[in-house]
Amino acid sequence: MSAAVATAELLARYDRPGPRYTSYPTALEFRTDFGEAELASRLVAANRERSAPLSLYAHLPFCEERCLYCGCNVVITKHRDVAARYLDALIREVGLLAARLPDRRQVAQLHWGGGTPTYFTTADLERLFRAFERSFTFTDDAEIAIEVDPRVTTERQIATLRRLGFQRLSFGVQDFDPKVQETVRRVQSYEQTRALVDRARAEGFRSINVDLIYGLPHQSTAGFGRTLEQVLSLRPERVAVYSFAYVPWIKPHMKKLPAEALPGAADKLALFGLAVDSFLGAGYRQIGMDHFAAPEDELARAVEQRRLHRNFMGYTVQAATDMLGLGITAIGDVQGAFVQNARKLPDYYAAIEAGHLPLERGIALDRDDLIRRDVITRLMCNFHLDVSEVERRHGIVFSEYFSESLAELTGPDSPVAHGLVELGAAALDVTARGRLFIRNVCMAFDRYLPRHEAAARPSFSRTV
Ligand SMILES: C[S@@+](CC[C@H](N)C(=O)[O-])C[C@H]1O[C@@H](n2cnc3c(N)ncnc32)[C@H](O)[C@@H]1O
Ligand code: SF4
Repeated sequence: MSAAVATAELLARYDRPGPRYTSYPTALEFRTDFGEAELASRLVAANRERSAPLSLYAHLPFCEERCLYCGCNVVITKHRDVAARYLDALIREVGLLAARLPDRRQVAQLHWGGGTPTYFTTADLERLFRAFERSFTFTDDAEIAIEVDPRVTTERQIATLRRLGFQRLSFGVQDFDPKVQETVRRVQSYEQTRALVDRARAEGFRSINVDLIYGLPHQSTAGFGRTLEQVLSLRPERVAVYSFAYVPWIKPHMKKLPAEALPGAADKLALFGLAVDSFLGAGYRQIGMDHFAAPEDELARAVEQRRLHRNFMGYTVQAATDMLGLGITAIGDVQGAFVQNARKLPDYYAAIEAGHLPLERGIALDRDDLIRRDVITRLMCNFHLDVSEVERRHGIVFSEYFSESLAELTGPDSPVAHGLVELGAAALDVTARGRLFIRNVCMAFDRYLPRHEAAARPSFSRTV
């Protein structure tokens, strides 16, 4: 069997809807009957861990215009008064949350994501940051990061962010090919991006991340190859190369994309392969499923030592800790429960104005969820599972506990048979080829998946 045929067969077998596992259980399992009382008791428990630092995420959802590929939770508006009200509410939420954590105020990670956080003026960004500073203190090595859209971010904003203490910037790029950019309605030149990256370096930002997407309409290996060269010339510390999550039934604006111009699964794999070759060739290390880190970056060292962690904010070297999300749609991970804030602005405002935490839904993880989450996260981070470590940590016999998962992984037409996974008595290893299908490997450990696979409409984007 030639390599090309083998790849085509693998795609036919594995390219199907599946979760991205930014959490396990996925958000589909969150329930509205998880109420404020349950969250309150988790916060009481969290507060007792006085010396453990927190991770905080703030969601700033506004953008002036929508990029047609966008799968994020955004609010499109040019009316600044809409955003002004939001900022006031968010600042109140910081206070409400801090009041529940009177003894636990140290923060090791603060991330502002969006939407486009730099939609806000420098004065507003500063006002929000001061609110966090009034309620919390940052550890000496805290990671303070923000997502910026180079099309709307000014040099003044960059200088302000640095002065406030941000050290990490994440730039949205996706692709520099003009044809792709026009099709997805996000026109952003290399020069514009380069100027802002140079400015950030001059201001002393120590980590620059660039986001790319493969699988967009009209992407070609020639065009994407040029984009990769341009990105390498910026020498970012980190690069995310996301598979385009095409979900028009969830995000109707994606229907405006020309479906016939979307690359097929084999073309998508070729685009990703090009990215892998470019970044590895330039000395970067692959981090988990879709990230790359420059060799001197701490993520690159962490991956060698298998100390990588992953949470809703992405890959990190910060040990797992309670994570709290602020703003609409934000997700927290606190004392064994996932919680999600109100997803609509009116609901969010109503809660905050009544002095309540704006919780909408959540899930308390049971023992089985915690065991499976551990396995899935380790596979997503390290492509390796130390079986005896999992047994020790959770008090299980791996082969018995996961007999169904192992049967799925090892049958005649299975990931092991296809050379994606190597299974020994002591370890499970995902092969270089298997990395492309890591979501499928993790799906074998997902207890909830069969229910969603039986549904008429897919709940997830495709795995390739
Ligand atoms: C909130 S956005 C980035 C910040 C800023 N709004 C910008 O666009 O520059 C976060 C990233 O999510 C990724 N993203 C958005 N929609 C996606 C989709 N449908 N599939 C895969 N990645 C997507 C993009 O790479 C984007 O840069
Ligand atoms: S990709 Fe960024 S700028 Fe574009 S709509 Fe999404 S969040 Fe807004």
